[in-house]
Amino acid sequence: MARLFINEKNKKAHINAEIYGHFSEHLGRCIYEGLYVGEDSGIPNVNGMRKDVVGALKEMGIPLLRWPGGCFADEYHWKDGIGPKETRKKMINTHWGGVVEDNSFGTHEFFELCEQLGCKTYVNGNVGSGTVREMSEWVEYMTFEGVSPMADLRKQNGREKPWKIDYFGVGNENWGCGGSMTPEYYANLYRRFQTYVRQYNADRPIKKICGGANVADYFWTEDVLKTCFAPPHPDFMHGYMDGLSLHYYVHPEGWEVKGSATDFDDKVWYKTLAKAKYMEELVTRHGAIMDQYDPGKKIGMIVDEWGCWFTVEPGTNPGFLYQQSTMRDALVAGITLDIFNKNCDRVQMACIAQMVNVLQSVILTEGEKMILTPTYHVFHMYKHHQDAELVESFIEGNDVIGEEEYRVPHLSESVSVDAQGYVNVTINNLSISESMPVEMVFAQLEPSSVQGVVLTEEMRAHNTFEDPDRVKEAEFTDYTVEGRVIRFTAPACSVISFRVK
Ligand code: AHR
Repeated sequence: MARLFINEKNKKAHINAEIYGHFSEHLGRCIYEGLYVGEDSGIPNVNGMRKDVVGALKEMGIPLLRWPGGCFADEYHWKDGIGPKETRKKMINTHWGGVVEDNSFGTHEFFELCEQLGCKTYVNGNVGSGTVREMSEWVEYMTFEGVSPMADLRKQNGREKPWKIDYFGVGNENWGCGGSMTPEYYANLYRRFQTYVRQYNADRPIKKICGGANVADYFWTEDVLKTCFAPPHPDFMHGYMDGLSLHYYVHPEGWEVKGSATDFDDKVWYKTLAKAKYMEELVTRHGAIMDQYDPGKKIGMIVDEWGCWFTVEPGTNPGFLYQQSTMRDALVAGITLDIFNKNCDRVQMACIAQMVNVLQSVILTEGEKMILTPTYHVFHMYKHHQDAELVESFIEGNDVIGEEEYRVPHLSESVSVDAQGYVNVTINNLSISESMPVEMVFAQLEPSSVQGVVLTEEMRAHNTFEDPDRVKEAEFTDYTVEGRVIRFTAPACSVISFRVK
């Protein structure tokens, strides 16, 4: 038996809703078909945005959306994506399948989508193949209210009022697809480019995100901070940056082969979960370097690409990165979100990659059909953590399980208290075969109201267009309450959430 101790009175830090953010790149069928079908499509839409997908995302709880890439961002020239659609330039999407990008989804469409979703905006600029002027003019186009060449152009294109950019990324993966730069070179470019990301609205500041490391490249973090970190200054908010990014994907078999999304054995299950758990070490070690420069934790760690990256589904375009999502993805999501919650003093934003039809998606589409993946259900079950306060929690008797060198804790958990006074508990049982009796002990609370939800199925279970509800949330009522204790058994291979008062 495991005992989960919760000190609901010991609030540790605020869980930024943006930790539950998403990413949409011009890649495969994410933007086109997944989100945007155009006004003339037979698929029900509002101003070109799919009604079914927007509705499902709102129900799930989407706080933030990152766009237009990814690697695509450093090849994107925003002026090609404004004005009448018939005259927009067509380009080659060199990173993703070499297909024609017709630029019919551009700046106006992105903000329209975010307005429909009711979420914050994260726009990623082009450093790799763009100019300072191009980036600066884009910011002017999007955010300047008065009279100026770019504000006038925006108005000519039908948008009178400026939009709000919540976050602006200065380049993406500039150590790789964003220009193959050294950290010193990027850091100096970052200083220069970010200077011209002007803050036109004092009441709506743009948070600037500096391009951070790939996985365990601690040298990148160190070198970039050495050059870019500046002490707080009234003109620079937190110096030159408000956040530093980190990208980490789980490929069970490595970068070259990656491994199937649906066909895997017990060993690969534990290998995948152990690799997901590695996020904890990355956050701790990159965080320790950030602490040396920024002990007050003013700069956020921005994990703006994370998730499972498998071999594409058989028969699909290898450049489109389309993959299925099983209970294994659900557990990866649960484990990772618990890590972010527990490190929310430093992790201020994260974006799972990607939102629809690419990598670890929450939604898959096929023509007019749409299905929700197990990962969708985890985000839905975790949504009450958004903007809640992390509280102290600890599991006693949490054994270590797994196969060979791939060892993981049996359970993972995180707990928060929200503005309505509910204690939100999320628990993952990482074992494929062993359920676990749990005693959940509160410091003072004697629960009078408990709502439980569970997601459980066999490890390879997933939803398909033929069987869309094989994996779905169910009410969890199999618990007892006695004083300050709730007792239940966590089924093998499950994610559970409780909302307790
Ligand atoms: O999400 C797919 C790709 O992964 C992104 O374009 C890039 O930033 C990363 O390498």
